[in-house]
Amino acid sequence: MSTNLSIKLITCLVTAVAFFPCYSQSFRILGFFPTPIYSHQVPFFNLFDQLVSKGHNVTLLAGFPLPQSNVSHYKYIHVPPVLDMKAGNFNPRTLSWLSFRGYFLDVRKHSDFCLYVMSRALANPITRAFVRLDNSNFDLIISEMTFCGEAYVALAHKYNAPIINFMPMGYQAAKFLLFGDLVHPSLAVDQRFAFTDQMSWFQYVCNVVGTVQDLVEERNYYLPKVEQVIKSEFIYPGSDSRPPVESLITNISLTLLEYDPVKFGILFPVTPNVLFSGGLHLRPSRPLPPQLDKFVNGPGKNGFVFVALGTILQFSHFERYVTDAFVQALSQLPYAIIWKVNVKVNVSDNFLTGEWFPQEDLLGHPNCKLFLTHGGIHSAMETIYYGVVPVILLLFLLRSSQL
Ligand SMILES: *[C@@H]1O[C@H](CO)[C@@H](O)[C@H](O)[C@H]1NC(C)=O
Ligand SMILES: *[C@@H]1O[C@H](CO)[C@@H](O)[C@H](O)[C@H]1NC(C)=O
Ligand SMILES: *[C@@H]1O[C@H](CO)[C@@H](O)[C@H](O)[C@H]1NC(C)=O
Ligand SMILES: *[C@@H]1O[C@H](CO)[C@@H](O)[C@H](O)[C@H]1NC(C)=O
Repeated sequence: MSTNLSIKLITCLVTAVAFFPCYSQSFRILGFFPTPIYSHQVPFFNLFDQLVSKGHNVTLLAGFPLPQSNVSHYKYIHVPPVLDMKAGNFNPRTLSWLSFRGYFLDVRKHSDFCLYVMSRALANPITRAFVRLDNSNFDLIISEMTFCGEAYVALAHKYNAPIINFMPMGYQAAKFLLFGDLVHPSLAVDQRFAFTDQMSWFQYVCNVVGTVQDLVEERNYYLPKVEQVIKSEFIYPGSDSRPPVESLITNISLTLLEYDPVKFGILFPVTPNVLFSGGLHLRPSRPLPPQLDKFVNGPGKNGFVFVALGTILQFSHFERYVTDAFVQALSQLPYAIIWKVNVKVNVSDNFLTGEWFPQEDLLGHPNCKLFLTHGGIHSAMETIYYGVVPVILLLFLLRSSQL
């Protein structure tokens, strides 16, 4: 008995010693988030926080630093978070998947939207200098590459490193085909459609057409344009021998799909290189900053409504009458209003307006009665997590399936 025990003990010790170097090894990790959209950066903070605290050498190129990291093995490269839609004569208001027309005819607009976002992000002088001149070595690259960031896969070639890819959406045939999925319209509903996985005959026909259209658009228009962006921006020693963008995407080691099939109730099959990771960014709410705390316990003590439509679409994109209609409608509610709005509005003391609010901490506050949201994937998951009643304004680029 006791020999048995000591053998077990020794095995344990040997195993521990043998594997110790593995556990104590620190890897060099690049987080590449040049797309200056807040909601597409903050969700990764939890992960990067953990990587830094476990001692990995993390370089983060992003628009927002980690909340509290002040250690020598964390390097932050700041890119300013501006995305001036007007500069490209671009109006996100024109993107709509709301109408039947929108489902099928606006696909090109979505391609152009992504190409615009990607080119703008890479044209930033800081990002450009990093892409061309940085000569460090990395063991792993973490980025958001299959949402308006396909060009960033070139980094895998530059650093000869594997990629972990965040994907903030549901099923999209063209991307899943590259991941090695068996793309079949009877198994998976394109995220554009508000269908469940129990499609009617008519819905099935729409899904077949939508799937084929997505595949054709990706191959004939989108990826060739992405290739051009890569050719003009990713210039570094050895870039001549870079494989085409399709093989680089196919070679992505792991995709973390920010989708939760259980919460959203729509199932689809995935290959082993795709993991459902919806809700990775969720965390218990934290206490509010003093000014907000005063408001929610003052005018908001009987409850408040939080109004926030995400980061891309701003009230300045709307005609004035839309904002006025919001003022009129919100003024009639028997609650205080906290409103994320970037234009001047003439409202009573019952309102608190500002360009940014700590959304999760507000949603987690017990006085929050209602969330008026655009229904983006992170907001949708937060709504479920904090148990707040949502009212969803379907505006654009939305996976109606997650609602
Ligand atoms: C980070 O650490 C340095 C050196 O220890 C210190 O001078 C600096 O104030 C710290 N910054 C923050 C934001 O805590
Ligand atoms: C990580 O960073 C620290 C501090 O900058 C450095 O001393 C160490 O060599 C780095 N480790 C690796 C694996 O690059
Ligand atoms: C695929 O990734 C592996 C591991 O990072 C790398 O060694 C290989 O060269 C890549 N192949 C292509 C075609 O990019
Ligand atoms: C703001 O609204 C109040 C009450 O509706 C009105 O009396 C006031 O003139 C308005 N101010 C401006 C600058 O429009």
